[in-house]
Formats: sequence, C-alpha cells, structure tokens
Amino acid sequence: MTPLPDSVRIVEVGPRDGLQNEKTIIPAATKIELIRRLGECGLRSIEATSFVSPKWVPQLADAAEVFASITQLPGVSYPVLVPNEQGYDRARAVGAREVAVFSAASEAFNRKNINASIDESIERFRPVLEKAEADGVKVRGYVSTVLGCPYQGDVPLGDVVRVAERMHRLGCYEISLGDTIGMGTPLKARAMLRAVADSVPISALAIHFHDTRGQALANVLACLEEGVSVVDSAISGTGGCPYAKGATGNVATEDVAYMLEGMGIETGLKLDKLIETGLWLSAQLGRETSSRVARAGT
Ligand code: HMG
Ligand code: MG
Repeated sequence: MTPLPDSVRIVEVGPRDGLQNEKTIIPAATKIELIRRLGECGLRSIEATSFVSPKWVPQLADAAEVFASITQLPGVSYPVLVPNEQGYDRARAVGAREVAVFSAASEAFNRKNINASIDESIERFRPVLEKAEADGVKVRGYVSTVLGCPYQGDVPLGDVVRVAERMHRLGCYEISLGDTIGMGTPLKARAMLRAVADSVPISALAIHFHDTRGQALANVLACLEEGVSVVDSAISGTGGCPYAKGATGNVATEDVAYMLEGMGIETGLKLDKLIETGLWLSAQLGRETSSRVARAGT
C-alpha cells in the first residue's frame, strides 16, 4: 500500500454535475451565487457549468450567462464541460481557460450520453485539444462507467485503461475516473485504479464517485491508499447524469473534507463554510442535504 497523500486537491463539480440533473430550472443568479460561495470555501477547482447541447441538458442552457457573470478568484480554476468543438468555441467566447472533455469505457453508455461511439467521441476531442493547445487552455478528461454501466453491466478493466490512456496521450493533463452510477466497491475501485495507473501516471489521475449505493467514501479511501490525490465531489451530495439510468448524487464535498481533515490530510478547505454553502444550496433546491456531516451538524 502506498502512503496516504499529505494533501488532496478537491475538484468541486456541484455547479455542473450537481445541477445538470435537476428537473426544475434553477435561475442563473442562484448558480452564480453558488459558485461565489464555493470560492469562499477555499476550493481551488470549481467546475462551473457545461457547454453541451441545451436540447440534451436544458438545466445548463444558461452556461454562457453563468460563466460570463462569475467573479473569478485568483488562484482558482473554473473548468467547464465541453462535448465537442462547438462547445469549446462557446466556452472560449465567454473566456473559459480550462475545459473538460468526456467519454466512457462503455460503448452503450456513450451512445446514450453523447450519441457517439467511443472512437467517434475521441475524434471529436481531437480538434478541441488542438485548439486548446494553441490557446493555452488546459483540458481535463473524464472516463465514465469505470466500475459498471447501467446498459452494458460489467465493464472490462482493459476498456477503462484503453480509453484513459488514449485521452491522456491526446493531451488531457488529468483523467478523472468516473463511477457514474455508483456501482463500485473498495477493492474493485482499487484494482481499477491500479490497472489504469500502469498506463497513466497516478499524478495525472483523479477519482469521481457517485454515491448511489453508499460506497463512495469507502471507495475514495481505497483509492487514496493507492496513491491518488485528486478527488471530485459535489457540495451537498448533489448530482447525477440524465443519461445514466439509476445515477444519484456525487460524494458530498463536506463529507470528503471531514474525512480528510480527520485523517490529517491537507485540503485547504473551510469545513464550516462548506456546510453552510451546502445547506444554503439544499434550501434553494427545496430538499434536505445529502451530506451526512451537514445533517449531523458537525
Ligand atoms: P447530437 O444531437 O448527436 O449532435 O448530440 P449534433 O452534432 O448532431 O447536433 C445536433 C444539434 O445540437 C445541432 O443543433 C447542433 O448545433 C447542436 P440544431 O441544428 O439541431 O439546432 N449542438 C450544440 N449546441 C450547443 N452546444 C454544443 C452543441 N453541440 C451540438 N456543444 C451532443 C451530440 C454531444 C451535442 C449531445 O449528445 C450532448 O450535448 N450530450 C451531453 C450529455 C451530457 O451533458 N451528459 C452529462 C455530462 S457527462 C456526466 O455527467 C458524467 C461525468 O460526470 C463523469 C461520471 O460521472 O462518470 C462527467
Ligand atoms: Mg458525474
């Protein structure tokens, strides 16, 4: 087992993954205020929105308005999701300096989510990565369904490794490995990470767990023990993917921060502010927070 990292970078995906699956349209002003509050929590990476087709994800149709209106703090990056060159151009038009492209280890999920095969989706990224390099824009990459697919079932490890390696070779500086519908358990998560880390340096890997079956924190710990030091999470445990049947929220940022703080791992986060922000968001969404830490009032 690798020693636990001294510090962990949290990538907050609440404003994007957290909100994309909400059925009631959330006003742009609320999204902008959420991003402002998250900045005050000490987060250094806040995925702000998504420049996908508004027909596919109506909730984030206001991406340009939101992105153009946020006050960007120094030292904080605000990546945005883009599925293709059109999304990249829209994001750049409002000044995005970091983008994230996404594919999946399962063909069946990719078809449902972006109407393309894995190969086609990667071909769509090529011009995005070329433009990004010329523009000095950083590109993150997501691989979804790394521990199971709602349509295909089991996903062979070799498929996860192949897609992660291709995206890294194309120029993504970091590959986030997504358990899209929260099927993973700790030993499987560790084995998956180990297999990918044979082909992509562990320093270029991140983990992204949805908590559908309550396994996310245990999976995060297993992966920290394997040497990963970048963790995606969403404030208040919001999230899900409209094209992943059965996906529920991401692991809550408050809960990850509490666990890491309790283990003496540096995150730079202010737990009390995170809890306050998560409770504020759940009030905006009109439901109870999914963060266990916030509910316990710690
Ligand atoms: P398509 O229908 O095959 O696209 O969708 P198309 O190229 O044929 O274009 C159709 C129409 O969409 C055209 O407009 C295009 O202009 C427009 P029309 O002529 O009909 O008026 N269009 C766009 N408009 C705005 N921005 C764009 C854009 N691209 C095309 N970027 C497409 C293909 C990829 C666009 C679509 O399938 C899509 O947007 N899918 C996104 C689905 C999505 O956002 N899923 C959730 C994010 S992934 C996730 O949550 C997983 C993750 O969290 C990790 C994990 O948990 O595993 C990242
Ligand atoms: Mg996700």
